[in-house]
Amino acid sequence: MTAEELRKKYIDFFVSKGHSQIQGKSLIPENDPTVLFTTAGMHPLVPYLLGEPHPAGTRLVNYQKCIRTGDIDSVGNASHLTFFEMLGNWSLGDYFKEEAIKMSFEFLTSGKWLGIPIEKLAVTVFEGEGNIERDEESAAIWKSLGITRIAYLPREDNWWGPAGTTGPCGPDTEMFYYMGDTPCNPDCKPGCSCKKWLEIWNDVFMQYNKNAAGEYEPMSRKCVDTGMGIERTVTVLTGKASVYDTDIFSPIVSAIEAACNCKYGENEETTRSIRIIADHTRSGTFILGDPKAVTPSNIGAGYVLRRLIRRAVRHGRKLAGDCALDLSNIAEVVIERFKGPYPELEENRAFIIGELKKEQAKFMETLQKGEHEFEKLLPNLLKDPRKIMSGRLAFKLYDTYGFPIELTEELAAEHGMTVNREEFDDAFKKHQELSRAQIGSFKGGLEDQGEMAVKYHTATHLLHRALKIVLGDHIAQKGSNITAERLRFDFTHDSPMTQDQIKKTEEIVNEQIQKDLPVSMETMGIEEAKASGAVALFGEKYEEQVKVYIVGNSGTDYFCKEVCGGPHVEKIGILGKFSIQKEQSSSAGVRRIRAVLG
Ligand code: ALA
Repeated sequence: MTAEELRKKYIDFFVSKGHSQIQGKSLIPENDPTVLFTTAGMHPLVPYLLGEPHPAGTRLVNYQKCIRTGDIDSVGNASHLTFFEMLGNWSLGDYFKEEAIKMSFEFLTSGKWLGIPIEKLAVTVFEGEGNIERDEESAAIWKSLGITRIAYLPREDNWWGPAGTTGPCGPDTEMFYYMGDTPCNPDCKPGCSCKKWLEIWNDVFMQYNKNAAGEYEPMSRKCVDTGMGIERTVTVLTGKASVYDTDIFSPIVSAIEAACNCKYGENEETTRSIRIIADHTRSGTFILGDPKAVTPSNIGAGYVLRRLIRRAVRHGRKLAGDCALDLSNIAEVVIERFKGPYPELEENRAFIIGELKKEQAKFMETLQKGEHEFEKLLPNLLKDPRKIMSGRLAFKLYDTYGFPIELTEELAAEHGMTVNREEFDDAFKKHQELSRAQIGSFKGGLEDQGEMAVKYHTATHLLHRALKIVLGDHIAQKGSNITAERLRFDFTHDSPMTQDQIKKTEEIVNEQIQKDLPVSMETMGIEEAKASGAVALFGEKYEEQVKVYIVGNSGTDYFCKEVCGGPHVEKIGILGKFSIQKEQSSSAGVRRIRAVLG
């Protein structure tokens, strides 16, 4: 089975069970300061899991591009990836455990769908903790369906979420596939020392909202959130040994083999390097190809992107020496492979290729300098009998030459040494604290549900409209980021705003707040919404049915009208006084405003 077939089957199956297909969203989360990337299909759905009505109804299905960097060092083994595609189905207060598990079982085992033999499957359920009980209910449902291999596991295995530091979460039941011929003994199940069980799907029973105080509040409306990894599932269905052996990666792997004149599988080290290049280039291509693309930098998501590109380059050099591998050629293959389900890659082709070329050139310079410096240090380093390189020294390489810590660690490892990572992290943290740009981007909870964040969200709409009035209709939102303390708004505009324009913008927003205008919401078709004058973000993918938030007295007498998922305040009088603290350049042709409510 190919990835295309699996994607289609999954969507068809859940549509046949009354689900509406919704669009996957950007890889860069909006309004969530605690995470750099979209990590799961549920991530863009958090407000709906917490109670906002979804315009497409209570049963949803989609495929979502995701990035998880927690396991970046495991990339290179058989199943770890930084970028992956997640298939998901959701019940927003609709069905719960029984129906969810029965649908999962039918999709996995029915000959019409995946047709996996039942003896190849095992599941895990939550063993219980404190006053949250052992999930006998899920176990009984699985048993009634004929699944006998059921492992009860603790929170670290069978609890999912929240995606940030606060938000919906709950016990889950995970489905595993046996990668060997037959389970090694009658009791063999996930967690068995044979290590042949691979997780392919997870049904999460979202019953709690973890609040900012760390407490688990029961949700009044229980939801189901599921996630199936496309890459892993295709691997098991096609009997391959690793995700890189599937049709998902084969053209990418072939391109790397040809460029580096090496063979996947010829030895462990080469295989690992090819996998790292394939995974990291794919992730980098998707990040750069996203409508909310970030570019390589030294902070946040841009830093992750830089790290992915640079690590891929370094493994390319390992395989083929200096400059032999141009990642932009591999990115071309990635674009071809995935432009069907993700047309944004084709649309942003020139940008992806251009940015990769620029970053590679920059890195070449850095590498040469950094490696040269490392070699100068080496004779002294080798004198240390413990074979530990000081973290301060590693930080100096980073700070002075931009030489990434991961590369210092790899170089050190090549000489049998480790780096004192704790010391490096300390130095790095101190350095970060000095960089004001960084402050705010990682603190707080999943702020988008907090009262202050909701106010800032509404204020963002007012600001967007006011800017159009003051600067002209060419203004388009490029991004926004909200915490409980401030809003940040990026928009297209060529020149700095004058003091007058800033003052005027503030005045317009404050005038509306003083009028205490009401906020109302209507659900309508996206085309109808646009035709009615609602602002929609360029390049954003919308559902067919969208919510339109209107700030004003009626559908004809309004201040602003925007397609948006919400939530918003009911009346804007409570926003208080709006002031712009800063207006500066964000990137070429894009300005950034930082504003507060007080
Ligand atoms: N959100 C759940 C996961 O990522 C389904 O595993």
